Order: sequence, then structure tokens, then C-alpha cells
Amino acid sequence: MIRAIYPGSFDPVTNGHIDIAKRALRIVDELVIGVLNNSNKTALFSADERVKMLQDTLGAEHPKIRVESFSGLTVDFAKQVNANIIIRGLRAVTDYEYELQMAQINYELCPELETTFLMANIKYAFLSSSMVKEIASFGGDISDFVPPLVADQLREMF
Ligand code: PNS
Repeated sequence: MIRAIYPGSFDPVTNGHIDIAKRALRIVDELVIGVLNNSNKTALFSADERVKMLQDTLGAEHPKIRVESFSGLTVDFAKQVNANIIIRGLRAVTDYEYELQMAQINYELCPELETTFLMANIKYAFLSSSMVKEIASFGGDISDFVPPLVADQLREMF
């Protein structure tokens, strides 16, 4: 039984995140999406709101995915939920350095945990939560980038 975590800020979840989470189920049996709730990271949506958006988007259709928030270290969250794999998505080469550093630090902290990368679908290679927030803040159309319920919440927020 392979259980993985997919940690991130998900502020808010985008179609790129959804794609990675669904594809991760091809290689793991269970996926626990971990929504970071560290107080030093300023987020537009609260951790509870971010968890709910993910649950409402993925929860019912995908019983092998569950969503939780966590604070502190990703490796501790993985231990807490008994996961042995960390899933991360890689978009462009610009993600590589940051992701390499995180994977190496996490390996130092917990060598039993393997980080596995899924390459983002080319459709979402440019997509980020920050871009989506910026577009939404200027009243732009974000309907191609996020699930409909997230688009509604972003419109309400701005
Ligand atoms: O979606 P993001 O913001 O790129 O996700 C980053 C995240 C949440 C995976 C990273 O910030 C993280 O793991 N934070 C928890 C603190 C931690 O474990 N730090 C050590 C590894 S960098």
C-alpha cells in the first residue's frame, strides 16, 4: 500500500494542481493533500477555505484522495499520516532549483521519504496560484485556470 502526500499552499487550488493530484493516483494507492497552514506564509484564503475548495473539487469523485491542513514541517506531516512518498509537480525549468533544494532538505530530514515529481501537463505549464490571484484582482477571466467553485470564490474575494 503506497500512501503519498501532496503538500503545498494551494492558495487557491488551480487546474494544474488538480491534474497532478489525479495523475498521482496512477502511481500511489492513497493521496493525502496537505494544505500548509504556517503563520509566516501570508495567504489570501484561510487554511480551512483552501481545504474545503480542494475537498469540494476532488473529494466526492476520488475516495482515494483526502485533504488535510498541516503546520510545521512537511516531513512531520508525512510521518503523521504514515506516508512514504512526497508528490510535487514540476512546471518549467524555473521550478527545478527550488524543488531540488526542498527535496534534498526533506531527504536530509527524513531519508525514508522519497520525493517524486510529476511533470505538469503542458496546458498548465504557465499556471500558478499567484498568477490566478493577480488576474482575478484585476477582474480578468480565470475560468480556464481554476475549478468553477474556486473562480466564484475569487470573484467574491475581489
Ligand atoms: O505550493 P508551494 O507554496 O510551492 O508549497 C511549498 C511547501 C508547502 C511544500 C513548502 O513550503 C513546505 O514544505 N513547507 C513546510 C515547511 C518545511 O517542511 N520546510 C522544509 C522543506 S523546504
